[in-house]
Amino acid sequence: MQLTTVHQSITDVAADAIVVNLFEGVTHPGGATGAVDRVTGGLIRKLIESGGFKGKKGECATLHFPPGLSQRSVIIVGLGPANDFSLDRVREVTAASLKEAARIGARRVATIVHGAGIGGLETGAAAQAVAEGALLGTYRYTRFKQEPDEKRVEELIIAEMAAEKIEAVRQGVAKGRILAESTNFARDLVNTPSNHLTPAMLAEAAAEMAREVGLSCTVIEREEMERLGMGALLGVAKGSAEPPKLIVLRNEKRSGGPLTALVGKGVTFDTGGISLKPAQGMEEMKSDMAGAAAVLGALRAIAQLKPEADVMGVIPAVENMPSGTALKPGDIVRAMTGKTIEVDNTDAEGRLILADAVAYAASQGAERIVDVATLTGACVVALGRVYTGLVANDDQLVAELLEAAQEAGEKLWRLPADPDYKEQYKSDVADMKNTGGREAGAITGALIIGEFVGTAKWAHLDIAGTSFSRSEKGYHPKGATGVAVRTLAQWVAGN
Ligand code: BES
Ligand code: ZN
Ligand code: MN
Repeated sequence: MQLTTVHQSITDVAADAIVVNLFEGVTHPGGATGAVDRVTGGLIRKLIESGGFKGKKGECATLHFPPGLSQRSVIIVGLGPANDFSLDRVREVTAASLKEAARIGARRVATIVHGAGIGGLETGAAAQAVAEGALLGTYRYTRFKQEPDEKRVEELIIAEMAAEKIEAVRQGVAKGRILAESTNFARDLVNTPSNHLTPAMLAEAAAEMAREVGLSCTVIEREEMERLGMGALLGVAKGSAEPPKLIVLRNEKRSGGPLTALVGKGVTFDTGGISLKPAQGMEEMKSDMAGAAAVLGALRAIAQLKPEADVMGVIPAVENMPSGTALKPGDIVRAMTGKTIEVDNTDAEGRLILADAVAYAASQGAERIVDVATLTGACVVALGRVYTGLVANDDQLVAELLEAAQEAGEKLWRLPADPDYKEQYKSDVADMKNTGGREAGAITGALIIGEFVGTAKWAHLDIAGTSFSRSEKGYHPKGATGVAVRTLAQWVAGN
């Protein structure tokens, strides 16, 4: 979808449909909605009076062939109650209004910036949220569909009447577009099935993206992994016919400041290995590289936002397969740091590959490391599909990530990283086991990764519950959500 910004009253924009809004319970619309009401001879007020529209969150009413206007339709979208209005609400209602626009077959749609007037939000932030809601809410994965099964909105015109606000709207829309398109880039990768996204193909996609936005990208192959002593990563990889890839990206704009590494779990398919998963639901394990996708999406956005920051992306990409060459329970591997791990369960492969990936990031001088992974079913049990789990060794880092997530409209919840949990993954025969048992599985899984970060400040995001959705929810369609892209980009790039 194309996004344009115009300095015009919404009533004057040439479009098939225009979008205005209403807070829940309001009977006399003001602002742009009031202007539309007046030129149509009070149609919106009559609609409200008749009980045909309440202004509930995301509720849409459409007036066709409105008198006094040149556009074919007026869509009124409900903003919900004014007292809990937020930027994320702007994303949600923008997505809802564009779904309605698509439903009525509108191709050129104009919208006001929800929240920038009566809503009291900062104009740039509201415009950014409109752009994000539009692009995120209308995303579809169509790569393997011969016939697109829906009508689509082709252009969204964002209309702002106030001259003093137009520059803020332009900048907000530009930032929102970068963040949303980068999220959709991640969604595409996550939705792609494993036969079309092997570790080698993921590396190719990363290299192509890097070329487009001006990042450097190098791929560490198996032989070099062997030289570097990455026995944990190699151990997982050896069960698959697909060779492993360690993808390393850097931004070119060097600040000379501390290096930050974003590390993403890139298991292109997780069968569980010899500790095989049940067949039921296994197809969702094509999304076990959602952490890798989040890191790639975030770096894509960061490259375009160009902050004064020194960032590295590290992605261990493998397939976790059962075979005659696969790791077996009880096997012991030695990671890059020299620490040994007893493989209690081959399905706990994420922490194995991340052990070597975070160790590599630390060896490259990263002082702050954030890993993102679809790590544990235990996190889904603990937090469901609403919150991403957060485990960290540094309070400042946690505070920064929580703030970035808040701005991005993503939800993070910190779990305790108490060293007492380490008892659970002690091994009789190696430095540690790769599992800590059923209890507090999201925490022990994270802490095992934390054993390999050296002295770096470290945080871990468990997106097992939040990266892939079984139903459409707000501006997230069914399937990949692209979670963590916007939080990480916001964290690194700021405002
Ligand atoms: N990729 C899975 C975790 C997962 C589960 C992601 C559900 C998305 C949805 C991970 O590799 C895994 O299998 N973890 C095991 C660890 C256990 C064996 C300690 C799990 O959570 O069961
Ligand atoms: Zn996995
Ligand atoms: Mn697994």
